Amino acid sequence: MGRSRTVSQRKFDHLSICLRRNVENKGTGTWFDEVQFVHYAVPNFDLNDVDITVNFLGRDFKAPIIIAGMTGGHETAARINAELARVAEELGIGMGVGSQRAAIENPRLAYTYAIVRETAPNAFIIANIGAAQIARGYSIDEVKRIINMVKANALAVHFNPAHECLQLEGEPSFKGSLDKLREITSTLEVPVIAKEVGFGISKEAAEALAKVGVRAIDVGGSGGTNWALVEYYRAKKSRSKIHERLCKLLIDWGIPTAVSICEVRSVLPKIPLIATGGIRTGLDIAKAIALGADVVGIGLPLLRLAYKGGSNAVISELRAIIHELKVVMFLVGAQTLYELREVPLILGPRLSRWLKLRGIDPEEFSRSRA
Ligand SMILES: Cc1cc2nc3c(=O)[nH]c(=O)nc-3n(C[C@H](O)[C@H](O)[C@H](O)COP(=O)(O)O)c2cc1C
Repeated sequence: MGRSRTVSQRKFDHLSICLRRNVENKGTGTWFDEVQFVHYAVPNFDLNDVDITVNFLGRDFKAPIIIAGMTGGHETAARINAELARVAEELGIGMGVGSQRAAIENPRLAYTYAIVRETAPNAFIIANIGAAQIARGYSIDEVKRIINMVKANALAVHFNPAHECLQLEGEPSFKGSLDKLREITSTLEVPVIAKEVGFGISKEAAEALAKVGVRAIDVGGSGGTNWALVEYYRAKKSRSKIHERLCKLLIDWGIPTAVSICEVRSVLPKIPLIATGGIRTGLDIAKAIALGADVVGIGLPLLRLAYKGGSNAVISELRAIIHELKVVMFLVGAQTLYELREVPLILGPRLSRWLKLRGIDPEEFSRSRA
């Protein structure tokens, strides 16, 4: 009981800090500023004809957006989850819940997650658990309970080694996590998505994950919510000098989201790919998809809007973002998201250099129009 209260309390700390403080990393950024479209002046269709529907893991989405898995485990989280679920249902997009560890350790908290499926009976819902927890011995039955709690369409397993090191109560123990993941992917009926939480996935990590049977990857790159900043505020409050120092040191750690998409795509050209981490506008979404993502995840801004203004505020924001995406597609002459994946891109010097040094040809992205 003591430990489950700690998990719940920690989740509440994270939520409070994310709602009140500036926890976005403006330092390294997403590197989407290193990606430029080539304007196309002669589109042969109307703005109204732009089609942003997508099939992701066998489900049709009305827009290529997933509300990133963030919360659960306490009363405020239940309220936010309900607001976000209303949005997912209304807009025909996907939604993740936060780590369900709190409810495994204290089943009375299951309602804070289950409310998502009750509110969004038709949406694509993603359950969530940490790789560190599965490595430390969650049984297949417990994993099934996590999925059943929200009648999930997929299970996200988050790999967050940096965050486990940064947080005071972290458990940086991942020994055996890939073997356990292999057991899970071969037993479960729902697809497993491996995700980072803000430090990105490299091509080597992506290959290791694909080898154990994950069906999709969420790059969770840097440039958006920055856990080094979140934990820095917590360390300061609890006067932990060692953690405060570590958080400062690693404030710029991670693979920016734009880079991580290219890394993963270079080795896994077909795997369903979610781009999360600092996606804030329709232009960011267009760039993520043009680089190779299938859909994007958006976290922090939607969390804040849901808390302050409820589902209506989130819906207004997402409608604005969707309009931006459609306009950008119109201006590059892409009527569908499949066409968007083919348009020419100009990559900036930092991104080109990174890709070259990693054995990925940046010129492939300057492909000519079909
Ligand atoms: C308050 C908060 C809690 C989060 N909790 C989880 C979690 O429990 N499990 C997880 O996989 N990701 C978690 N995330 C990470 C998000 O899924 C996402 O990867 C991250 O916020 C980056 O996206 P953003 O820049 O749009 O916020 C959390 C994010 C926030 C803001």
